[in-house]
Amino acid sequence: MSQPRYVFACKAADLDPDSVKAFEIEGRQVAVYNIAGAFYATDDVCTHGLSSLATGELQGEEIECAAHFGVFHVPTGKVLAPPCSIPLKTWRVEVRGDDVFVET
Ligand code: FES
Repeated sequence: MSQPRYVFACKAADLDPDSVKAFEIEGRQVAVYNIAGAFYATDDVCTHGLSSLATGELQGEEIECAAHFGVFHVPTGKVLAPPCSIPLKTWRVEVRGDDVFVET
């Protein structure tokens, strides 16, 4: 089994607690979340359309898409509200010092 490979995403300080931003990581738009000091990453593009989830509203562990208000559970990518029906791809995150890395 190959070792997981982590790619630098951002500085931890780039994300205030309870905020989300999109970063391009190896050609893919990834949303990185700071939820009460814990970091998570998902695809940034909503599975319902082409909206950036980083422009949506983060409430606790839930991200609401700004386009049609579908909701996902950030840690698992699970759909919590329609019109979304396809789960969101999640990525493992590792924080090393002040640097946030995402597994690719
Ligand atoms: Fe996200 Fe439609 S594009 S809910």
